[in-house]
Amino acid sequence: RALYNSADNVIVYHRAITDLSNLPPSPRPPFQRWIWLHLESPTNTKRIPGLENLFNLTLSYRQDADIPVRMRLITRKKPNEDFVIPKKDKLVCWIVSNKDPSTGVDTRNVFYREFSKYIQVTLFGKAYSRFLGYDDYYPTMASCKFYLAFENSIHKDYITEKLNGPLAAGTVPVVLGPLRRNYENFVPAESFIHVDDFPDPKSLAEYLLQLDKDEDAYRKYFNWRKHLTPSPHLILQRQEFILAICTACDYIARRREYKEAHDLYNWYFS
Ligand SMILES: *[C@@H]1O[C@H](CO)[C@@H](O)[C@H](O)[C@H]1NC(C)=O
Repeated sequence: RALYNSADNVIVYHRAITDLSNLPPSPRPPFQRWIWLHLESPTNTKRIPGLENLFNLTLSYRQDADIPVRMRLITRKKPNEDFVIPKKDKLVCWIVSNKDPSTGVDTRNVFYREFSKYIQVTLFGKAYSRFLGYDDYYPTMASCKFYLAFENSIHKDYITEKLNGPLAAGTVPVVLGPLRRNYENFVPAESFIHVDDFPDPKSLAEYLLQLDKDEDAYRKYFNWRKHLTPSPHLILQRQEFILAICTACDYIARRREYKEAHDLYNWYFS
């Protein structure tokens, strides 16, 4: 904060704004750009009046943000032949920290209630009082054949670390979120199962049970690993902003042009 007057760029975290009074002082130095950082979906975003035409750059999970933030699969030239599917002792797992309907989780809760009538799901997380330690996150994920990568609310591009976790761990994600085509902008079609591929939760459960008995069919979900490499995302609370901040640093180191981000909410909520 002591460097404010000489800073080229200032990242402002949306959730830390109470109202305009806790923003940095105005007017800002003429060379300074403000970057709006926000990683929650529109359902979980407070409209704070006065921000509409204040920022220069947006830093968000949205692909059409000025600076999109996302874990990405990396291509490789030489095929990787030595990926081994980790040992499995659980069928379907789900880590859930949030059951609060006000955050938009109704869709996934309704789906889950029906789905879990037909198949065994091992639950972890705050919402079920089975907190998973940080060291256990990836090993536990790896020990499940399928992982429910259910987003809390459904919005274009809102595809979070809930997808990256299982891909990085060597587990097949079962996704609930935006349309399959939107997922396929970021990961190969055959790397995940989409709930929309099935007419109802029961048919999805039946398909997973069938895959459980058919090793060759299950293995096909990992063919993409020959040519693409996932990276585990950081999971400690204090690492929460590292990806966003490093992505922003990379961007601003290369680009210094003048820019205004107008109609912030109009863009974000549409
Ligand atoms: C940043 O955006 C603000 C608000 O739109 C604008 O007044 C300012 O000139 C912009 N500055 C730069 C350096 O892009």
